[in-house]
Amino acid sequence: MIQVLFVCLGNICRSPLAEGVFRKLVNEKGLTEQITCDSAGTHGYHTGSLPDHRARRVAIDYGITLTHHARKLDSNDYVNFDYIAAMDESILAFIQTQYYRSTGFEPKDGQVFLFREFDENHEDLNVPDPYYEDIAAFEQVYEIVQNCSQNFLAYLIEKHNLKIKN
Ligand code: 4NP
Repeated sequence: MIQVLFVCLGNICRSPLAEGVFRKLVNEKGLTEQITCDSAGTHGYHTGSLPDHRARRVAIDYGITLTHHARKLDSNDYVNFDYIAAMDESILAFIQTQYYRSTGFEPKDGQVFLFREFDENHEDLNVPDPYYEDIAAFEQVYEIVQNCSQNFLAYLIEKHNLKIKN
């Protein structure tokens, strides 16, 4: 089983949206036996909460119900997850520092990365934080994570030679 973790700051906006979008694509390709996913936040301000109502609103408009409850990134995650997708550069830096502190070793090549590296149209490498913005910012996050999820899944399918359902 390939395990994918999406990480943002609060785990109520970007990463649960990425998780929901990615899981829908995994389901559509018939890959639920091969790939699982989860999300977490670098900080625990919102632990236990459902995603932000604006993230849930946008997700529902695209046929996705977000049921994740926010949780803080845990040192076990560095061992348990094959892929850890950071939503922006500050999250990536945090993970890289904490990874070494927690485990005593560096991430494996390609294990920890910026999710937006999979966005061929990226203006920059950060999925913008929509928390203090309006619903349009959540729409924009949706578009970005949808595009990145498609490309990331295609990468996994090729890399792991996964058999898809068309
Ligand atoms: P997220 O957005 O990292 O995409 O979940 C945020 C959620 C909460 C806060 C900041 C960003 N906050 O400051 O509480």
